[in-house]
Amino acid sequence: MTGDQRARQLLKDLQALAKQMKLYPTGHPTTGEALTAATESAEGLASGAGGEVVMSLLTDSFYLDRTLLAHASLESSALLREMQRRGIESITFLSPVAGADIADLGAFVADLSGDVPAESTVRLNESPYSKSDLETDSSSARLRRSYTRSLDVLRGVAGALDTDEPIDLSVASWAVEQLVEQTISQPAASLLLSTMKSHDEYTFFHSVNVCILSIALGRMAGLAGDQLKVLAIGALLHDIGKIRVDSSVLQFPGRLDQDQWKQIKLHPQEGAASIMAAAAPGQEIAATVAFEHHARFDGSGYPRVTRREHDLHFFSRLVATTDTYDAITTRRSYRRAETPSSALGVLLKGSGTFYDPDFVRSFIELVGIYPPGSLLLLDGGEVAMVTQTAEAGDTPDLVLVKAGDGTLLDEPEPISAADRTILDHVVSGNVGVDPAALLEKVGVIVQPV
Ligand SMILES: [Fe+2]
Repeated sequence: MTGDQRARQLLKDLQALAKQMKLYPTGHPTTGEALTAATESAEGLASGAGGEVVMSLLTDSFYLDRTLLAHASLESSALLREMQRRGIESITFLSPVAGADIADLGAFVADLSGDVPAESTVRLNESPYSKSDLETDSSSARLRRSYTRSLDVLRGVAGALDTDEPIDLSVASWAVEQLVEQTISQPAASLLLSTMKSHDEYTFFHSVNVCILSIALGRMAGLAGDQLKVLAIGALLHDIGKIRVDSSVLQFPGRLDQDQWKQIKLHPQEGAASIMAAAAPGQEIAATVAFEHHARFDGSGYPRVTRREHDLHFFSRLVATTDTYDAITTRRSYRRAETPSSALGVLLKGSGTFYDPDFVRSFIELVGIYPPGSLLLLDGGEVAMVTQTAEAGDTPDLVLVKAGDGTLLDEPEPISAADRTILDHVVSGNVGVDPAALLEKVGVIVQPV
């Protein structure tokens, strides 16, 4: 494992530990398991870094020593916020990391204690780095920031719905404005970032991805300004009604029974009603998108809102296309992830029946046969990642991410697709490569559409 992967694991384990500690006392077996896992991860990280490592927290990001943890910053952004609320700016881990010290850290993060002992193997706020040492304002940092803010909006909206409070669309409107700006100015990097997945917050990450893809597709369809913004709000909030669905139903690993299916089918109405209650003039279309995103082009799907294609809103038909694509490329509790090219195959197969053929065509034109973030198996067993959609008749831009002997490359290496034979498309989870995490390393060329 690389330091980056170890840090990611540690943050996941710390989040699980803090959650466990809030639910059960320290002696409880599941809390014990979570503590062991977090301690092992912390020890692996510290000893792998020569005995001492500093994790810093700055604005929207985690850093490991001076290196930005791009993926972890998005994946564990809820933990980042919690830690920042507790005043944590940095955590130093010293090998051998003691379990009791990790327990103290967990209790502090969970707000069960007021401090951690100063002389321990886990120390707070002793970072030797200053803000100027770490923070960058690169274009990818700005893009990532708008992704995080959109995730925060969804967490806020979900929290409000959970406690039956009204939702505030002005924050959503502000966040999507940033995302629209970034997606337009950095289309290739945005598409690459939209391959970001999270198992724990599947719906939120899926929603931000659908938002990015919809902005890019909406832009291709000639939308601009306020129209693009309303489309983006609709895309971001399209699944928000899932808050009302039991999580045991959402995460059910098998075939749903009639009752469970009935619950799922209610999420478009639930979402639309919540958005409608909060919408300012002009934003009502966002509620229409939530209401219609599972209604199909030919009148099938749910809810049964139409029998004729033109009855579905233009934005709903657009979001149905991007929603399907992102869902298929994501691993869910009941289905494995498919490659981007299989997802395009599903869209093509349903073009004209389930999906609007114009959007299917434009979407394929947008992402290409090799969408950014696709992983390709080359002859010799190497794995390369597509960083930029190929122009018609051209080959895509590739970087080598995994050598033929199975080693992951620390620095992705640009290669020419013309010299290689592409054997197959592969799924990221199967080859241990996370495309979105490589965004800062591959330096995708900024090329406005
Ligand atoms: Fe949905």
